[in-house]
Amino acid sequence: MSNQVVIFDTTLRDGEQALPASLSSKDKLQIALALERLGVDVIEAGFPVSSPGDFESVQNIAKHLTTAIPCGLSRALSADIEACGKALSVSERFRIHTFIATSDLHVNTKLRKTQDEVVDMAVAAVKHARSFTDDVEFSCEDAGRTHIDYLCRMVEAAISAGATTVNIPDTVGYTTPTEFGGIIHQLYNRVPNIDKAIISVHCHNDLGLAVANSLAAVENGARQVECTVNGIGERAGNCSLEEIAMILQTRQQRLGMQTNIQSQEIMRTSKLVSQICNMPVQSNKAIVGANAFSHSSGIHQDGVLKAQNTYEIMTPESVGINKNNLNLTSRSGRHVIKHRMIELGYKDSDFDLDTLYSAFLKLADKKGQVFDYDLEALVFFDQQKHEEAFYKLTYLHANSGKSILPNATVTVKMGDEEKSASAMGNGPVDSAFNAIIQATGLTQLEIVDFKLDSKGEGADALAQVSVVAKYNNRRFTGIGLATDIVEAGVKALVYVLNNTYLADQIDQRKLQIAGV
Ligand code: KIV
Ligand code: ZN
Repeated sequence: MSNQVVIFDTTLRDGEQALPASLSSKDKLQIALALERLGVDVIEAGFPVSSPGDFESVQNIAKHLTTAIPCGLSRALSADIEACGKALSVSERFRIHTFIATSDLHVNTKLRKTQDEVVDMAVAAVKHARSFTDDVEFSCEDAGRTHIDYLCRMVEAAISAGATTVNIPDTVGYTTPTEFGGIIHQLYNRVPNIDKAIISVHCHNDLGLAVANSLAAVENGARQVECTVNGIGERAGNCSLEEIAMILQTRQQRLGMQTNIQSQEIMRTSKLVSQICNMPVQSNKAIVGANAFSHSSGIHQDGVLKAQNTYEIMTPESVGINKNNLNLTSRSGRHVIKHRMIELGYKDSDFDLDTLYSAFLKLADKKGQVFDYDLEALVFFDQQKHEEAFYKLTYLHANSGKSILPNATVTVKMGDEEKSASAMGNGPVDSAFNAIIQATGLTQLEIVDFKLDSKGEGADALAQVSVVAKYNNRRFTGIGLATDIVEAGVKALVYVLNNTYLADQIDQRKLQIAGV
């Protein structure tokens, strides 16, 4: 049996479906290209039948990938499989991933079918998917709670029908490592045609065991692990890509496995996903948390200074954390910024130096010193574009204090028209939001979430605000980054307004095309 473990990333499907608002096609492509550079083998780009937006972004990703295999998810239904085939066939090589639930609970209560009917549906789905591609993955949803006899029957039937990868998901994160490893072990012992397919696992983290269960599965013969960057995903998330990859790399001598993951790309990809998805990474998170390589106690610091491996089992450099000795200030020239970006692992094509440099100068004027994480935040975050699509904030003044009623005045440019408004609220951000809503007249916009995070360290950090708002029954997200919290909040709201404006434009265009 090969010792190569295929890394199947589902950040853009299982991870994305857990976000409060969906990502734009451009954001998804940016993540897909970062995953490809990270060395991921298969990228599950979305669920094409679920919406025209998902279809379009799966297709767009399939067009742009050169080494990773694009994949789309489908239920065991013809329409889903056809949508996958259509979206992905822009690429020479692609995978269709089709699934159906197999546990008694799901079969009886959710599907309301007999076990035989479910096997027939699975077989038909795999055969149909094979008419589009030779690379077909079949998943037994809720396999972790499926009776082993039925699971063996299903796996055998899927492989006979043409599945080249069979995935065993612990959909609800219920199993323990010995138990889950045992399921894989039994499949290898009992399914006669098991050697005709790669056995994959897809573990959720409800009991915090997703990575441990995936590892146990690999130790018992699984050769594909499905995972997400930073472990994002439904509920408590999925197996974390960076953790499983670094386990296999760091304990290579014990486990004897290898992957195509370029570990030095891990940190950058983690930051990109965290930034675009607006999902902060906890500081004590293994591999990519801010404290993952910092030593606090005197004894540890002393040990690391004498020999790094006293308290470090892998080096920060191996996951792409580089120490920066350059002081970046408003006196730093364009070439210094470019040089630093290249040192951080970016290619020229990853950023527009003019845009980045002008954003850098503005920030350096406000902050004094600019750090690596500031630069990366500016790259990941093409704020200006979203701030100026139609609505543009040209003036902001907010007051608050112990004996003052919070109030704010804003001026917003809408195309060629400019309007000012003043309003009060329960704080300076709320006042500024009320003033913006008043100036733009978008009273139907409802703010459903407001999150404040800091990018960087200490009082010097940048404020990052994310806003989720409902408008015309759809949800829109916006992110704002600034040295000032009120300004960051307002930028996030303006970003949302521009997203609603763009969505209205697209809707109107569609109506025009349809001749309405
Ligand atoms: O968790 C799960 O079972 C899934 C399947 C669709 C693979 O996400
Ligand atoms: Zn899942």
